[in-house]
Amino acid sequence: MRTDTPQAIRLSDYRPPAFLIDEVALTFDLHPTATRVTARLQVRRNREHSEPLRFNGERLKPISVAIDGRVLSDGERTIDDEGLTIPSAPDAFVLETEVEIDPENNKALEGLYMSGGRFCTQCEAEGFRKITFWPDRPDVLSRFTVRVEADRSFRHLLSNGNLIEQGELEGGRHYAVWNDPFLKPSYLFALVAGELDVLEDSLVTMTGRTVELKIFVDPGMAPRAAYAMDALKRSMRWDEEAFGREYDLDLFMIVAVRDFNFGAMENKGLNIFNSSLLLADPATATDADFERIESVVAHEYFHNWTGDRITCRDWFQLCLKEGLTVFRDQSFSADMRGHAVQRIKDVKALRARQFAEDQGPLAHPVRPSSYLKIDNFYTATIYEKGAEIIRMLKILLGAEAFRAGMDLYFERWDGHATTVEAFIKCFEEASGSDLSHFFAWYEQAGTPRVSLESQYDEAAKTLTLNFAQETPPTPGQPVKQALPIPIAFGLLDGEGRPLRFEHDGEPQDETVIVLDQPQASITLTGVDRFPVISALRGFSAPVVLTTDLEPKDKYVLLAADPDLFNRWEAGQELARDLILRRAAGSPDEVNEERYADALGRALSDQSADPAFKALMLALPSEPDLALVMSPADPQAIHEARDALRTRLSVHLESQLRELHNGLQDLGEFSPDAEGAGRRALRNAALDLLLANPRSDNAAYAHGHFEAAGNMTDAMAGLSALMQVGGEAFGQALADFYERWTSEPLVIDKWFAVQARDPSETAIGRVMGLTAHPAFDTKNPNRLRALVSTFANFNPARFHDPSGAGYRFLADQILAVDRFNPMIAARLVDPLGGWRRYKPELGALMRAELERIAATAGLSKNVYELATRALA
Ligand code: PHE
Ligand code: ZN
Repeated sequence: MRTDTPQAIRLSDYRPPAFLIDEVALTFDLHPTATRVTARLQVRRNREHSEPLRFNGERLKPISVAIDGRVLSDGERTIDDEGLTIPSAPDAFVLETEVEIDPENNKALEGLYMSGGRFCTQCEAEGFRKITFWPDRPDVLSRFTVRVEADRSFRHLLSNGNLIEQGELEGGRHYAVWNDPFLKPSYLFALVAGELDVLEDSLVTMTGRTVELKIFVDPGMAPRAAYAMDALKRSMRWDEEAFGREYDLDLFMIVAVRDFNFGAMENKGLNIFNSSLLLADPATATDADFERIESVVAHEYFHNWTGDRITCRDWFQLCLKEGLTVFRDQSFSADMRGHAVQRIKDVKALRARQFAEDQGPLAHPVRPSSYLKIDNFYTATIYEKGAEIIRMLKILLGAEAFRAGMDLYFERWDGHATTVEAFIKCFEEASGSDLSHFFAWYEQAGTPRVSLESQYDEAAKTLTLNFAQETPPTPGQPVKQALPIPIAFGLLDGEGRPLRFEHDGEPQDETVIVLDQPQASITLTGVDRFPVISALRGFSAPVVLTTDLEPKDKYVLLAADPDLFNRWEAGQELARDLILRRAAGSPDEVNEERYADALGRALSDQSADPAFKALMLALPSEPDLALVMSPADPQAIHEARDALRTRLSVHLESQLRELHNGLQDLGEFSPDAEGAGRRALRNAALDLLLANPRSDNAAYAHGHFEAAGNMTDAMAGLSALMQVGGEAFGQALADFYERWTSEPLVIDKWFAVQARDPSETAIGRVMGLTAHPAFDTKNPNRLRALVSTFANFNPARFHDPSGAGYRFLADQILAVDRFNPMIAARLVDPLGGWRRYKPELGALMRAELERIAATAGLSKNVYELATRALA
């Protein structure tokens, strides 16, 4: 156990910075193991106080510290593990520091490090302090000039802003000087140096300015950046049209790197991407990859306004940039790919990640009030629930007032670091509404449970809806208040026809009510026929809704709800109940038959979008089911779900084969929504067909795998063969590996598919793969492909009753924590839900968490998550 219990940082302790830095000139003399960083800062005391100057700095080898040209003696400044202190500094002065750092041996991938022989940086949230002494907090905004010097073999020398000078130096070296005219905090600083290929394009903005666009990638990979470039141009155009936001520099650059802790980073004018979220072509990337790339390129680009031009005052305000930017990228993707399909995918992800987080010991508000390591708060709650809050705001205020609030926010806060309160105030002012009650969505953790009961009075033609809400306790928040919950709904009759009604005297097809009390009752009039209620349309709020709808009502919704989200949702609820009945040992065979028939009808609906049908065809996932079974029994869930899938496969066999045959790609591959939707449906049909791995089906899967002309189909074939198992799967894996050995992003997929294999022998194979020559714990993508995929997407094996899955994960966490705490901490989550599982399993999970927490020399990151998970 650590003896020095780390100190929590609290929102209530926020104080403005003691010193500000108006301008900075940095010089990097790059060398892989000994880089010199010289910093010349224009420092100014912030208001009147007599506090010492205290700048952050970690893992820096100090060379010299000088004020106004005079080198400070040891007595005039102290340097410890956390930074530089100057007890008595003048009110305004030039601080010059020189330090040495070692990028080559930086395996935490934070600060300046090397990836694939190239220099790159990652500074969010607190990486800049590993580069130079600095008040490393987002409310210190400065103008940066950066000079980069390196051997000429590092051909491209990049940093933020505009290139103002470059040239040759003696000894085979060269240099470049960059100036960023916009104020920015240190976390948005970036530098890249190396031999890269570049894909170039340009865009004329809404005011007629030409912006140069450059995407830098590993040599030979430029063609694979074409899709990202296309997505970038569409994002730029979309932000002009949807939010009136124009790009502000004359140059926008993206660099792809192989070793990256997260997805991508919005550094001003120089985004850095994990190569898995940038490089794609039909042969090596799946449709899901293309879709992710489109959304992440958009996300990082949109940060230019929501994140860079306006940033966060402190890290408690992280959702200010992340929730808002996710909302913006989701809106963009919906416009690109269809609103209903996008909404379903976003809600699936929200439930799988955020609802799970809310139910466990790591539950926290969208705006937390304390932390040990901010790196641990890049969570689904901050991102995805943060986006849901913005979405509700738009529903509550209406599109016009929402846009007016955004406009005011951009106008008022441009060039500043601000807070969630200041953001919400813009909407209050622009719309004239009081949002004080709404603010609780940011401060209260937990997923509200909403129940709906209804009474229809046939004689009076009235329908009474009784709503109630309750939010279960979460750590540190035992008592919850009622939240304002927008609930969109409409009515259908028993035949599935839309049914009009009157609410407040107005005839309507659909309406939104706001449930802001623990209970509320509303009466609709003019309801001519017995109604089926379609509630929470489009998932209008991030809540768990239970209704008194009977299965027959849900079948009506499944067949005919004009709200496609609820059509999909009805199918999911019906399937979920059938699986849970099987898991409890009492299958409802009559309704399983009925469900299979209903699914068959949905599949033959010619007017429906194939992408939508593909979603209809997928049963709720095992992790989703574990959230609604108490206590959760992953083995029982796996078997029950499989059994239902097998029944559906047998029942729908001819239809599935027809779909599969009828949807082959005819023309050239196109990654757009339409082509992807057809492939998704075709591959979903194959997947369900193989739930019955009879030999003719196995041969069919084999044929699909062999004939695959793109990575989407190849992976679908491989997954289908996984269901067959044995020699068929083994041979396909071997062929696949051999074909793609030299393509790291494809080899990641090869690891991941094996990590997902639920068969009994798979756990041994997964452990064995850690000794495979291509396995590399230091590369986050490779580690995630095997270890995270196993722990998050293979519940049947991860929760093996022997505890071997848990032990494997804990071993990996401890090993990785020695060099990359950020990544190690992200692996803790699957153990966090231990209280929700069967007691035998929960005890084994807990024991592994205890083993982790008791390990000497643990990082703050892992320490925080393991102890919170145990509390
Ligand atoms: N700010 C990045 C994003 O969401 C995420 C990130 C955080 C990347 C920290 C790296 C490190 O766009
Ligand atoms: Zn972001």
